Amino acid sequence: MKKPRLTRPVLLDVRDITRLYGPAKGCEAIDFQLHAGEVLGIVGESGSGKSTLLRVLAGLEAPDSGNVIYRRHAGQTVLDEDLSENADAALDLYAIGEARRRALLRLEWGLVHQNPRDGLRMGVSAGANIGEQLMAQGQRHYGQLRATGQEWMRQVELDPSRIDDAPRTFSGGMQQRLQIARTLVTQPRLVFMDEPTGGLDVSVQARLLDMLRTLVRQLGLSVVLVTHDLAVARLLAHRLMVMRRGQVVETGLTDQILDDPQHEYTQLLVSSVLTP
Ligand SMILES: Nc1ncnc2c1ncn2[C@@H]1O[C@H](COP(=O)(O)OP(=O)(O)OP(=O)(O)O)[C@@H](O)[C@H]1O
Ligand SMILES: [Mg+2]
Repeated sequence: MKKPRLTRPVLLDVRDITRLYGPAKGCEAIDFQLHAGEVLGIVGESGSGKSTLLRVLAGLEAPDSGNVIYRRHAGQTVLDEDLSENADAALDLYAIGEARRRALLRLEWGLVHQNPRDGLRMGVSAGANIGEQLMAQGQRHYGQLRATGQEWMRQVELDPSRIDDAPRTFSGGMQQRLQIARTLVTQPRLVFMDEPTGGLDVSVQARLLDMLRTLVRQLGLSVVLVTHDLAVARLLAHRLMVMRRGQVVETGLTDQILDDPQHEYTQLLVSSVLTP
């Protein structure tokens, strides 16, 4: 995968995020920047705070403190550092109000849940799952919606003739691909994924990963990817952030972190995968 140049503009500026559910639970003092076109992997053992952080980043749960700043025109216009002067260019996720935040999530961001049932509407057809996302963006032409639905089913290697079938008639791997189609059809700039290949058979995982990698490259997506699977991180992420007990212990380029981990905890994490 093409590595991003360091000069790419900052798309997401995460400042000192803390979300605690009690002492030593949740995530604490998280700082990082995501550049446009970059895939950032968040890794760490179970309970290290990955999903908590992702929920805060994705606009689902307000932090106790800290800011998530989205520079929506990153790479498109010259940015003004002063938020009040240039409110449209830099949005403070939890300061813009519920309605604007929801619109942002719907129009410019995407979220892939670990369990496709959380990201799909199980009661409506595959085609409706994809189409209603476009309708939320204002598209109304039935034939067009259907055609796009079928196009996206093909894109994620689902049989387009099953467009009227309900997601519950699909296998877990197929549901996950449908969820990905539903998320990406709106052409989000920024996508959050929580264990997108978790809970799937190894062979299904490999194909899904391959597909995700192609889509990320083709669409030039910026992605924050949570996974405890270092092989997934290796394949998809340009950069990694290693979490332990709610805090970041190490960040760096993926190959550097996995091949030459500096922190004791990362060394453990890497070696436990190498010697199962
Ligand atoms: N809604 C909640 N209420 C109370 N505690 C929570 C809540 N969500 C997470 N926690 C706690 O915060 C810590 C971090 O949990 P989190 O789910 O973010 O970890 P994770 O890294 O995603 O783990 P996993 O790999 O198992 O998904 C855990 O101790 C968890 O029990
Ligand atoms: Mg989790």
